[in-house]
Amino acid sequence: MRRLDQLLANLGYCSRSEARDWIDSGAITVRGETAEGPAQKAHAADVLVDGEPLDHPDGLLLLLHKPLGLVCSHELREGPNVYGLLPSRWQRRNPVITSIGRLDKDTSGLILLTDQSQLVHRLTSPKHKVPKRYRATLASDLSSTRAAEMAALFASGTLMLPEEKTPCASAELTLIAPREAELTLTEGRYHQVRRMFASQGHEVIALHRTHFGTLDLGALTPGQWRVLPLDFFNPADGASAAKA
Ligand code: URA
Repeated sequence: MRRLDQLLANLGYCSRSEARDWIDSGAITVRGETAEGPAQKAHAADVLVDGEPLDHPDGLLLLLHKPLGLVCSHELREGPNVYGLLPSRWQRRNPVITSIGRLDKDTSGLILLTDQSQLVHRLTSPKHKVPKRYRATLASDLSSTRAAEMAALFASGTLMLPEEKTPCASAELTLIAPREAELTLTEGRYHQVRRMFASQGHEVIALHRTHFGTLDLGALTPGQWRVLPLDFFNPADGASAAKA
């Protein structure tokens, strides 16, 4: 049970001080009865706002097709961010919606967003080894012989990038066309895809993430998102998210 003013403010409906007026206006009901006041305690599932259930009161997990030009940081000085694509009420939620890992401003594709911090920690932890697949467009041709050499090196788990203390984990490289390659990583180091190609003398001129684990973008166009079930990443045997 939570105070009504806190519940409404945390879900982005209004500020705690505005909640009193809103409740006084009769717009909020609890189990079918007009709410008494901001301090009334209620289960989120029992609350209606203008006759509608609360908007995702238990949390949000979203799959977004990130367009180019937006950052995943909340720091406004870093430029326009992906959160501006979301409904304004979601932008006011507390806890805030944040990305699970990051894509660079110049990278498009699949990014997950959530307000569940334990999910962020779990899915970004290197020990979890979630495969993330990228499609890279190269500035110059990569021959199949050279691609095979690079694939062996990337898979070996021995590639050291400049300024790094440990080698990159084993990654899978597939050549699609002379200037198109897919790279699947299980970790997420800074600019990792671009730096792995650069270490082999190849510049990446466009980068797009197509998959995160088993998820792909489906029919989503840049800027579109869809809501995933909160338990999407929970093991089927019912083990807790914290355990996995
Ligand atoms: N690797 C990169 O270089 N950039 C990204 O955005 C993601 C992975």
